[in-house]
Amino acid sequence: MKALVLSGGAGTRLRPITHTSAKQLVPVANKPVLFYGLEAIAEAGITDVGIIVGDTAPEIREAVGDGSALGIDVTYIPQDEPRGLAHAVLIARDFLGDDDFVMYLGDNFIVGGISGLVEEFRSERPEAQILLTKVPNPTAFGVAELDDEGRVASLEEKPKEPKSDLALVGVYLFTPAVHEAVRAIEPSWRGELEITHAIQWLIDKQHDVRSTTISGYWKDTGNVTDMLEVNRSVLETLKPSTEGTVDESSEIIGRVRIEPGARVTSSRIVGPVIIGADSVISDSYVGPFTSVSEGCRIEDSEIEYSIVLRGASISGVRRVEASLIGRDVEVTPAPRNPSAHRLVLGDHSKVQISS
Ligand code: G1P
Repeated sequence: MKALVLSGGAGTRLRPITHTSAKQLVPVANKPVLFYGLEAIAEAGITDVGIIVGDTAPEIREAVGDGSALGIDVTYIPQDEPRGLAHAVLIARDFLGDDDFVMYLGDNFIVGGISGLVEEFRSERPEAQILLTKVPNPTAFGVAELDDEGRVASLEEKPKEPKSDLALVGVYLFTPAVHEAVRAIEPSWRGELEITHAIQWLIDKQHDVRSTTISGYWKDTGNVTDMLEVNRSVLETLKPSTEGTVDESSEIIGRVRIEPGARVTSSRIVGPVIIGADSVISDSYVGPFTSVSEGCRIEDSEIEYSIVLRGASISGVRRVEASLIGRDVEVTPAPRNPSAHRLVLGDHSKVQISS
């Protein structure tokens, strides 16, 4: 069995973070979201992994390399434009050969991995198996309608009037039967070859398409709330360790991981919290469910339930909560006189000011 991981796309929903970085590399508890998927694939015993890449190919290649650090063997497959998930299957035909495969969307996060699912598929071997989950906003997804016996009756891509609240999760299991389907379908209104249509084609041709409904699913929806929430759930399972340095006037409480080269002085950190390599925390409070990436600086500040990306600095600010701070961002207090906010914000930024 092989895996096909999709890691192209523009990431418009996660702007401004994705102006400068691939959406699949957005970190959750200081690890790119894509790595959780690749690890889940390796854990399921699959080592032969094709990664579809687009405009952000150089970044993805730099992060993943040949995959050996993750226990997989990666083949990169370039896609010229985001032409749809079924198009990705089409161009991966040589790589996939006649093997069964799991298709995994690199921006999806599935709590608990996919081992059980792959196991079930291997033993039952229906032509296709999809994953579903209940969502509050089905119009943003592919949506499935099940019949009375729980079989997949129909699928619709981003329907205006969804027939259920069961969304297609970005993990699909296929036998080679899907290749005929992706060749048979036409592009959708958004100009993409939709995998949803290919699966509907399989259903129409009386192929065996099964579904499993899961909970513990997350996908970027552009609202930071989701990112903070998945960050929270991963931090809950954090293994505490101190590889950096903590001075005597600091207090570390609960699950806290301090990565190599990080320095904590005169600060209080209440876990679960991760402090990335070479970051400096001084005279500050870092509260629960905060991920600080590598090379950050937090001085004389308070922060809680937030994600701080690489190289950002926060100084003399209290208090920051439920925030996503991008790479190399600087947050500082404004001069007292005149009392005014001074902002330099990138395109698509969102700011909430309490005053
Ligand atoms: C794609 C699929 C959609 C699925 C979603 C899950 O949407 O087309 O059916 O529900 O992934 O992540 P897209 O990310 O292209 O909007």
